[in-house]
Amino acid sequence: MYKIAVIPGDGIGKEVMEATLHVLEALDVDFEYKFADAGDEYAEKTGVALPQETIDIVKDTQACLFGAAGESAADVIVKMRQELDLYVNLRPVKSYPGTNSLFDNLDFVIVRENTEGLYIGLEEYTEEGAIAKRVITRKASERICRFAFEYAKKTGRSKVTAVHKANVLKKTDGLFKEIFYKVAEDYPETGLDDRYVDATAMFFVTRPDMFDVIVTTNLFGDILSDEGAGLVGGLGLIPSANIGEKQGLFEPVHGSAPGHAGKGTANPSAMILSAVMMLDYLEENEQARRLENALVEVLNDGKVVTRDLGGQSSTMEMAREVRRKLEE
Ligand code: NAI
Ligand code: MG
Repeated sequence: MYKIAVIPGDGIGKEVMEATLHVLEALDVDFEYKFADAGDEYAEKTGVALPQETIDIVKDTQACLFGAAGESAADVIVKMRQELDLYVNLRPVKSYPGTNSLFDNLDFVIVRENTEGLYIGLEEYTEEGAIAKRVITRKASERICRFAFEYAKKTGRSKVTAVHKANVLKKTDGLFKEIFYKVAEDYPETGLDDRYVDATAMFFVTRPDMFDVIVTTNLFGDILSDEGAGLVGGLGLIPSANIGEKQGLFEPVHGSAPGHAGKGTANPSAMILSAVMMLDYLEENEQARRLENALVEVLNDGKVVTRDLGGQSSTMEMAREVRRKLEE
């Protein structure tokens, strides 16, 4: 029995969450759900987007499923990453059949440092303009690189690539690169290399199959993961994980999509795949593969899918079809 925090949030977040909980019922895993509030709607009622009670609930569970927030997303998700020290942002770049992925058979992951770099928010105006500080610490670099190698080992991936710009950012990325190679000494069985971020951006488009696990700093990881999302087609399909020492928070990359909200037109795949990532995190790998395969069958059939995938079905119809495959 796993204790799971469930935060549906706003807009389509609620709909894709309902769809995902529906398919999870068909798995051979028991969950005890703790529902919690966050987002615009909750803020309208109470004045706060992320109540302390929600943070406490998440801290008291093993993992959290998060739908989406609206305009308050920064106050909710960014704050949650900080409060829970979710220092890893894990984004798979995986192509599925029946989608408009630009490549077939793509399967790599981006491990993005989630707590520092240029996103630490140390900006100031100067007489000439403005300055932003980029903070790279030994501690954060070491733990993100270690996570990447451990992840590769655990998931049977053969190579970790550090992405940086150490030729220009000699001190900050110089340090990141140095720590990467130092951590790598503990993983002699895993292949490794390092690349400049600009070249990496090009290789994503020309030869994306060269990557297996990428580890990088915050801003580069943010940009490359959106480029990765573009490679495998559409926000309705892309899951993510935020992972710390004690918790994991799993969420689709998309937001509350107000244009789709309340219409039953949202694609539940990104949220379902976020649940697949949660199952892997909980080491329920067999159940994770079962769920992923059921979704792949539905995508492959292409019959009971949402409009963004060229179908006519609603969010819940697609979820019921995934569940039917699971129960077959
Ligand atoms: P969005 O991801 O909500 O939607 C952008 C467009 O992508 C939609 O109009 C829709 O065409 C498509 N789309 C997204 N998810 C889809 C799905 N599951 N099925 C079918 N189509 C889908 O991003 P947008 O419009 O920039 O932001 C809307 C709201 O969401 C904003 O208030 C923003 O702050 C918030 N947001 C929240 C995030 C979070 O909670 N983590 C992340 C991104 C945005
Ligand atoms: Mg982003």
